[in-house]
Amino acid sequence: MSDPLKAIAWPVRTARLSLRPATPEDVEATWTYRGHEEASRWTTRAPVSLSAHRRDFGTEESLAKTILIELDGEVIGDLMLQVEDAWSQAEVKDQASVVQAELGWVLHPDHAGRGYATEAVRELIRLCFEDLGLRRVTANCFADNVSSWRLMERIGMRRELHAVRESLHRSGEWMDAFGYALLADEWAELSRPQEATG
Ligand SMILES: CC(C)(COP(=O)(O)OP(=O)(O)OC[C@H]1O[C@@H](n2cnc3c(N)ncnc32)[C@H](O)[C@@H]1OP(=O)(O)O)[C@@H](O)C(=O)NCCC(=O)NCCS
Repeated sequence: MSDPLKAIAWPVRTARLSLRPATPEDVEATWTYRGHEEASRWTTRAPVSLSAHRRDFGTEESLAKTILIELDGEVIGDLMLQVEDAWSQAEVKDQASVVQAELGWVLHPDHAGRGYATEAVRELIRLCFEDLGLRRVTANCFADNVSSWRLMERIGMRRELHAVRESLHRSGEWMDAFGYALLADEWAELSRPQEATG
């Protein structure tokens, strides 16, 4: 799957949101939150200017894995979808090729606390399993990024890793990190309509 975003019929709609791949024209719309300290505290990059953000966001490599979250036509966040090979032994390498994805997310702080990120990430996971046929999704975060791991737990992802002082924050501090994952069959179970009790 050389370009996974091309394998999905866009835009994808959820109850309140619309998702679509990012384009070079979206640099300014995404800068409105990517330039915000609250949004960049835990992310890989904290661009200090629109031109720095353009250099990070506007590359072919970045655009190929970035999906925008829109609310009533306004860009309120973005998602990362990076399809990868799983680790395998050499003899079965072909079977482990392009079977999983690492996910990421950033929401405009003005739109936090209303479940929009949860709704968008849940849909992203559905796309990974149902449209792309992947077998596992993963995401990592600093242990102190409570909103991010709470989101993962709300969705049903499992904490598989607690690495101690392994990630270097730009503050200079080596911090703990969490790794989360979810398998396709676990997702199918989670999304099965609950049987009525009574
Ligand atoms: C991580 C991030 C996306 C989470 O944002 P968020 O606003 O907490 O997540 P949601 O939009 O899903 O909202 C969830 C909150 O809204 C509440 N909520 C309200 N209505 C809701 C609904 N319909 N569905 C779900 N949650 C709802 C939830 O209870 C939750 O609040 P709580 O954490 O106080 O319990 C956001 O903090 C962010 O962008 N951070 C900066 C970037 C970042 O760190 N990215 C990850 C790097 S690893």
